Amino acid sequence: MATTTESRLAGLKQKIDSREALIGIVGMGYVGLPLALLFSGERFRVTGFDIEAGKVETLNAGGSYIVRILPSEIQEAQKAGFRATADYSEIARMDAVIICVPTPLNEHHEPDLSYVIKTVQSIAPWIHEGQLIVLESTTYPGTTEEIVVPLLEAGNAPGLLVSRSLDEPGVHVAFSPEREDPGNETVARHDIPKVIGGCGPAATELASAMYGAIFGRVVPVSSPSVAEMTKLLENIYRCVNIALVNELKQLTMRMGIDIHEVIDAARTKPFGFQAFYPGPGLGGHCIPIDPFYLSWKAKQFDFRTRFIELAGAVNTDMPYFVIEQIGGALNEQRKSIKGSKVLVLGVAYKRDIDDLRESPSLTIIELLREKGAEVAYNDPFFAKVGRGRHYDLNMTNTPLDNLSQYDAVVIVTDHSAYDYKAIVEQSQLVVDTRNATKGIDSPKIVRC
Ligand SMILES: NC(=O)c1ccc[n+]([C@@H]2O[C@H](COP(=O)([O-])OP(=O)(O)OC[C@H]3O[C@@H](n4cnc5c(N)ncnc54)[C@H](O)[C@@H]3O)[C@@H](O)[C@H]2O)c1
Repeated sequence: MATTTESRLAGLKQKIDSREALIGIVGMGYVGLPLALLFSGERFRVTGFDIEAGKVETLNAGGSYIVRILPSEIQEAQKAGFRATADYSEIARMDAVIICVPTPLNEHHEPDLSYVIKTVQSIAPWIHEGQLIVLESTTYPGTTEEIVVPLLEAGNAPGLLVSRSLDEPGVHVAFSPEREDPGNETVARHDIPKVIGGCGPAATELASAMYGAIFGRVVPVSSPSVAEMTKLLENIYRCVNIALVNELKQLTMRMGIDIHEVIDAARTKPFGFQAFYPGPGLGGHCIPIDPFYLSWKAKQFDFRTRFIELAGAVNTDMPYFVIEQIGGALNEQRKSIKGSKVLVLGVAYKRDIDDLRESPSLTIIELLREKGAEVAYNDPFFAKVGRGRHYDLNMTNTPLDNLSQYDAVVIVTDHSAYDYKAIVEQSQLVVDTRNATKGIDSPKIVRC
């Protein structure tokens, strides 16, 4: 039996080596689409699955809907066999399937696994013996074993089971977290080591072979839960450290000390310190959300994750702190927020990206409006901002001219396309939440 399984494993590994393995990626978003391009770049034939018909059409027409991915990159991938589909029956043709669908929080701030559950239910009827299924969506430890495996086994008519050992036939299942940092050009995606935890040694071996073809280093761990927890540790580490500098910034402002100067000095220490920077609040799909996947799971073990809760509270308060600072800055000019014209610079959650999920700008705009300000925004990445899960702004991008008409210009996202010197020169008042005006000396600037 062992020989049969070993030869089956060798068969798929050989297909990976020869690039004959067909790779299916479910979820053509910020994670799935770049991953598809990485595999295509290594001459794999990739099929992208998505439930959004518009995305499937755009990709098949050689277009892109993510700013940093050029249509030419999609067209190049098409030459290697890349195509998109909404038809799950095509899962049956795939040798490996990677799931990259959203894992948000619901309105009670609890994990919303509905996308993962729907995806697994949709692929289950089409999976086959020897196939590799990998979940990449960030989630709490236990998801792969407690949710994915039972749904795959239950939804598969011939009664295919998940393989647990080298001498056991079945479908191979693993978890491997995505570690991308959008907009970070310092590390090539290929150089970010890939952590892999399989439900059994065969799954880990196969997933390592597959990811080893596109990543410089794979890091196998003993179980999916270890891999799931690794991703959460990384994001919780960021969340807690950002909260720490956000709190210290508020203290140092009262003390008349520039926190950025302090961080720049501290980071000269060659060991034991990593720089994190304060800002207007957390944004993005990961840092504001993922830690709460663990706090939720911890309750099952009668455990309170106090660091996560405290960091969450400090970071969530930051947009309110920014509003106080805007109010204070206007007050110095004998003005109030009510009735003031305010221009918010940047709605993306961080510099130079076209993603506004959970962006603090959205909260800041809403709070300013609630307080009676007339708010406009500028962001080179967003022609308009309509409605999302947590906001309904219905605004269009305002050109960056006639800045003197605004009572305050608030820098929330420090896009590198902005000419900060010119912005300060032309504005009456600049509230800078990102230290974007570093080095510019002007009484018009309020840094917070
Ligand atoms: N964006 C990041 O920088 C980042 C980084 C690391 C990890 N992650 C994690 O990766 C996962 C995906 O995030 P993302 O940013 O790519 O999300 P996204 O919203 O950009 O993309 C998800 C895609 O999945 C599609 N989808 C949803 N349900 C589907 C289904 N049932 N079948 C097929 N397609 C479906 C959506 O239409 C969308 O195109 C999340 O768990 C996230 O936490 C994201």
